[in-house]
Amino acid sequence: MQTDSSGQLTFEGAALNSLAAQFGTPLYVYSAQAIRSAYQSYAKACEGLADVTICYAIKANSNIHILKLLADEGAGFDLVSAGELARVLAAGGNPAKAVFAGVGKSVDEIEYALKAGVGCFNVESAAEMVRIGEVAQRLQIKANVSVRVNPDVDAKTHPYISTGLKENKFGVSMAAAPVVYAHAHQHPWLSVHGIDCHIGSQLTDASPYFDALDRVLALLDQLAAQGIVVNHLDLGGGIGIRYRDETPPKPADVLPKLIARVKTWATAQGRSMPSLSFEPGRSIVGNAGVLLTEVEFLKENEGKHFAIVDAAMNDLMRPAMYEAFHGVVAVKPNPTAQANTYDVVGPVCESGDWLARNRELAIEQGDVLAILSAGAYGQTMASNYNSRGRAAEVLVENGQARLIRRRETIEDLLRPEQDV
Ligand code: LLP
Repeated sequence: MQTDSSGQLTFEGAALNSLAAQFGTPLYVYSAQAIRSAYQSYAKACEGLADVTICYAIKANSNIHILKLLADEGAGFDLVSAGELARVLAAGGNPAKAVFAGVGKSVDEIEYALKAGVGCFNVESAAEMVRIGEVAQRLQIKANVSVRVNPDVDAKTHPYISTGLKENKFGVSMAAAPVVYAHAHQHPWLSVHGIDCHIGSQLTDASPYFDALDRVLALLDQLAAQGIVVNHLDLGGGIGIRYRDETPPKPADVLPKLIARVKTWATAQGRSMPSLSFEPGRSIVGNAGVLLTEVEFLKENEGKHFAIVDAAMNDLMRPAMYEAFHGVVAVKPNPTAQANTYDVVGPVCESGDWLARNRELAIEQGDVLAILSAGAYGQTMASNYNSRGRAAEVLVENGQARLIRRRETIEDLLRPEQDV
C-alpha cells in the first residue's frame, strides 16, 4: 500500500477511495502482485533444494480468481471440503496437485475427491482411513494417503488456531500412527504416500516447526523398521504475518533450514531425499487484501466515541472471534475532521460486533476507512448474519481493478428459502 502525492492511499496503483466510489462498500480489495510475490517467496525459498510443492491453503481466501492466479504461478492446493475442491476445478487448478485435509470427510466428499483425482488424502483418524479404503475399493480407484500426525508441540499462538497439541482435535497421535499406517499399507486400494503435520496458524516463532519435524522424522524411522517407507513430507502451513508489530519468520529463513534437516536425516539413514510440501494460507494472501468500509455515523456515548461503519462482524469475523487486531486507516486525509479515539463498530446487533478498538482517527461521516491485513480469513469466514449480503471483492493489477465477486443481493439471500 502506498500514499500518492495528495495523501490518498493506493493499492497496486489504484486509489482506494475511487474503488470505494466505483464498487461501493463494504468492499474487499486484493493486490494481484502482492499475492504473486508472497507465493514466489515460498517457491524461491525452496528452489533447487528439493522436490517441493506449495499447496496454498484455500480456506484463507477461496475466491476462484485468486485460485486461478495461484494455479498459474504453479501452486498446488490444500483443501478441506467438496466445496473447496469444486473451486479448484472451477479455477482450472490441477486436482492431482491438491491435498485433502480435515477431520470429518464425508463418504460423498471422499467419492468426489477420488473421482476428481485428488493427489492425496491427509487422513486424520483410524476410522477415516477405514472409510477411505472402503470408498476406494467400491469405486476401484486407488487412494493416495498420508497420515496427519499430531506431534504435540506448542505452536505458541492463539488457542483457537493452535492445532498440534494433543488436546486439539486434529491428526493422529504419534503413538497411534503406526497402526493407522499398517492398515493403509496392507489395503489393496490404499497407497501410502506421505506423512503430514500442521501445528497451528499465525506462528511468529519458527522453533515449533523444527520440534515437529524432529518428531515426524523419528516416526518415519519407526515406520521404516516396520517395513513401511514413507517418502513424502507435508509440513503444513502456519507462518504468521504482521498485523501490528509481529516479526514472523520469512519462508526464506525457515524452509531451507527445514529442508536441510530432512536432507541430513535422509543421508544418515541411507534413504533417498523425500519430496516435500507446505500449506501456507495467511502468509500468501493476508497482507495482500484490505476491507474498505464507509463511515455511516459518528456517535458519542458519555465520552466514548464510536465510528459506525458499513462493514461488520459478518464481513470480518476475526476481531469478534479472536479479539484480533487489524490496522485501520482513512483512505484519504480529511483536513476538516477532528481527531478522536474511536471504537470502529458495525451495524450488527451484538456488542461483539467491532472491527477495531481505541483507534486515533480524524474522520467524518462519509469517509472511507481501510481495514488492513484482511486478505486472509476475511471473506471466507463471512456470513449472512442479520441477513446482510456478503461484500463484493475486487482484484487490482497494475492499477486496473476487476470485480471478482459481485455483492450479494437481497434476492440471493432469500432464494434458498423460496426455492423449496
Ligand atoms: N493446513 C492446515 C491443515 C490448516 O488447518 C491450515 C489452517 C493451514 C494449512 C493454513 O494455515 P495458515 O498458513 O493460513 O496459517 N481463522 C483463523 C485461522 C484458522 C487456520 C485454520 N487452519 C484466523 O482467522 O486466524
